[in-house]
Order: sequence, then structure tokens, then C-alpha cells
Amino acid sequence: MKTTEIRILVYEFESIDELPVNDQKLLIEARRITSLAYAPYSGFHVGAAVQLGNGQLLTGNNQENSAYPSGLCAERVALFYANANYPDSEVESIAISAAKNGVLVNEPVKPCGSCRQALAEAEVRFGKPIRIILDGQDTIMVLDSVESLLPLSFSKDSL
Ligand code: THU
Repeated sequence: MKTTEIRILVYEFESIDELPVNDQKLLIEARRITSLAYAPYSGFHVGAAVQLGNGQLLTGNNQENSAYPSGLCAERVALFYANANYPDSEVESIAISAAKNGVLVNEPVKPCGSCRQALAEAEVRFGKPIRIILDGQDTIMVLDSVESLLPLSFSKDSL
């Protein structure tokens, strides 16, 4: 037997002011769009902002449905909107924020498995690592790549 250790790098910041200015701009947009989420069932409002290589900054938020599985997470709303409108432009970074009862969550918000898979597709599709900014009151986490969120992922290489 052989053991392989997979390490991930997580950058942690105590406040938005410590982030590089481009990350700050993206996170401000993610926070802004969080408040416009349609989340009457969970009360958990999530916002995502995507920075594209062509300079476009696009946003999305979670869209819930009375038939629960028909809803969609903020990350995929923003990512799919970006890819639908600018299919040739690489995704450079995504910032994600979330609020409960209008208050920013304490712990950095972590994308669900399906959103991680969708982000992994965008990383492979454009051949460029996506920077990920996860918002929280106590800590803001930054990751260099989707590989840090979803190691050992399924991709077109397996097909
Ligand atoms: N949600 C997101 O939009 N993104 C995440 O990263 C986690 C969960 C949404 C889905 C649902 O509308 C609500 O949050 C509660 O799960």
C-alpha cells in the first residue's frame, strides 16, 4: 500500500479590508446580491459574484421553489449566467456570501457538492484556476483553485 497526502492551501482574512482590492470589489457585489435572494423556505440568503477574464462582473443568488429540488444555489445561478452570456470568457474568480435573518454568517459559507462540480467544470473548460472567496463574519477564506474545494474530482478526462 502507498499513501498519498493531498494538501490544500487556505488563506484566511479577518476582514474584507485585508483582501486584495479586486477580491474586495467582488465580495461587495456578492454581499449586495445576497439580500435579493429568493429564499422563503430556508431563510438562508446566498449571493455569488463571478469575475470574468473579459472584465465582466456578474452576480446571482439562490432561487428556491415550493418543489424544493427545483431551486438552484447562488453559485450555479451566477456561474451559468456568466457562461451562458460569455461562453468564451474564462472565469477568474467567484465570491460567495450568505446571510441568515439579514445577518452575514459567522463561518465562511461553503459551496455544496453540486456547485463544486459545476465550478470544477468551469476550471477544466477554460483551463485556468478559479480563485474562490468564501465570506464570513469571523473569517474570510480564499482558495487558489477549485481543486482545493473538490480534490479527486470527476472530469471529462475520465470519459
Ligand atoms: N445554498 C446556496 O445557494 N449556496 C450554497 O453554497 C449552499 C446552499 C442555498 C440553497 C438553498 O436555497 C439554501 O441555500 C439552503 O440550503
